[in-house]
Amino acid sequence: MAQKDKAEEMAGQTKEISVSEFFEKNRHLLGYDNKIKALLIIVKEGVDNALDAAEEARIMPEIFVKVEELEREKYKIVIKDNGPGIVKANIPKIFGTLLYGSKFHRLRQSRGQQGLGVSCAVMYSQLTTGESTEVISSTGDGKTHKYRIKIDVKNNKPEILSDEVVDMDTWHGVQIMFICEGIYREHKQSILEYLKETAISNPFAKITFDSPNGKFDFSAGIDKLPDEPSEIKPHLYGVEVGILSRMLKATKARTLQSFLTSEFSRVGSTAANEIITKAGIVGEDGSPDGRLSPKRLTDEQMVSIVKAVKEVKLSRPPTDCLSPLGSDSVEKGLKKELNPDFITAVSRSPTVYRGWPFQIEVGLAYGGSIESAKFMRFANRVPLLYQQGDCAMTKAMATIDWRRYGLQGDKLPEGPIAIFIHMASVWVPFTSESKEAVASYPIILKEVKLALQEATRKLSLYLSGMRKAQYQQERMKIFERYAGDTATALAELTGRDADEIQVMINEIAKTVHEEALKTENGKEEEAPPVEVEGGKENGEEDEEAE
Ligand SMILES: Nc1ncnc2c1ncn2[C@@H]1O[C@H](COP(=O)(O)OP(=O)(O)O)[C@@H](O)[C@H]1O
Ligand SMILES: [Mg+2]
Repeated sequence: MAQKDKAEEMAGQTKEISVSEFFEKNRHLLGYDNKIKALLIIVKEGVDNALDAAEEARIMPEIFVKVEELEREKYKIVIKDNGPGIVKANIPKIFGTLLYGSKFHRLRQSRGQQGLGVSCAVMYSQLTTGESTEVISSTGDGKTHKYRIKIDVKNNKPEILSDEVVDMDTWHGVQIMFICEGIYREHKQSILEYLKETAISNPFAKITFDSPNGKFDFSAGIDKLPDEPSEIKPHLYGVEVGILSRMLKATKARTLQSFLTSEFSRVGSTAANEIITKAGIVGEDGSPDGRLSPKRLTDEQMVSIVKAVKEVKLSRPPTDCLSPLGSDSVEKGLKKELNPDFITAVSRSPTVYRGWPFQIEVGLAYGGSIESAKFMRFANRVPLLYQQGDCAMTKAMATIDWRRYGLQGDKLPEGPIAIFIHMASVWVPFTSESKEAVASYPIILKEVKLALQEATRKLSLYLSGMRKAQYQQERMKIFERYAGDTATALAELTGRDADEIQVMINEIAKTVHEEALKTENGKEEEAPPVEVEGGKENGEEDEEAE
């Protein structure tokens, strides 16, 4: 009987927890684990959303960020954009509900994914200062809505404190004001660094930052947005049993065969039949049968389908869901913010990990205003400032033998070098919800390594050219140093004017120097080759089936 009592007592204690309650207790999962980082994350969520919205509406983004200290460890953060705005009915849900967004159910490249970002910033603010968040939004119809919102954490629902129409100008966009606890610093992983890197990876954006230490302007370096990505359907190589079962429940397809061909990318009827046969889904007569209703599939049959998929060759998913920056924009972004002596960039062709398309881009900048080594990681154009060591991009950098390319340093290169690595994908495999590091799939490591090798090869040619020019320069200086004495000696011997002789010697030296440079530069330089290695997973092959 004792067990029964205990069980009943426990039953009385079990209750559903809302997602807000969960993240209220586990805010570190979203990156809110210290006061310095909290300010950064709030700015980041606001700016990432502003860029996503402006880009989707095909508007050149202009973003204003203000961070103001109200009292010790208490800050006001304002983020204002010129995007499409948010319709009135959606404002409370977006800011007052966790896991509410427009990007989760859509497969195309964007900065946000889960619908957690901005509502968590609202929650963090109310948790640390008790204050509501002010949201002003206009879609440009002349009505500007101003809300004060909190989150009803128990029910994961918005609590509206006020809702009014303010002025009627033609501005469109969103302005958010958070009051939260935090500490403002300008170190390596700061808001300033995040905005600077954002300006590099989004060279089409204009960003103004009014910081506690003064104003910073990041102007746009190009006047064109990257191409708009298209939506794609999921690819079967990336589908697990849970997702499959959810899709089977929701589908309008009447047969398993049509479910497979209509809901996934690159499944033709031949491939669908092959999957059905390999999964052993048979009709009453014992032969493979695709006419079964998707709703009637058993759990075992779902597992068999997921297993069978791995043995069937499917074409890669389409890659127009990606919107890479392109090597030209990578170079322009680096140039405008870092002002280096040398720049190069590589944009690899798209490929896939577990059925998800992705593309790697690498930029290298050297010399000029760059004083020490700087490593910048980006996912869908968002700078990743934390967990450098856990990230596939850092691991790939560590596999490069930098000395072979004429650079110093083990694992990571040293000197006045900036490395930019960007992964564009419909679904970036982050190692955690706080989206700070990319998971180390072999194909991702391999793509980053190949891009790095290709870019570093170009840098090494530039560096060896520089070294040769320097050597010639030194030779020239030695020559000039003795030219005066030589001229005087020759004047005595020949009886001609010493100054005239010196001019002649200098001219000879110049010609010899130029000739030497020409022959050096004409020589075919040996730079380390690009190596190819790394394992393949299913769905990562280069060949197309069907
Ligand atoms: N500045 C903005 N302009 C327009 N829409 C926005 C803006 N900020 C947020 N949104 C909308 O709110 C949704 C939720 O934002 P968020 O909680 O950050 O999640 P996510 O970015 O992952 O979708 C977005 O999907 C978008 O539709
Ligand atoms: Mg977001």
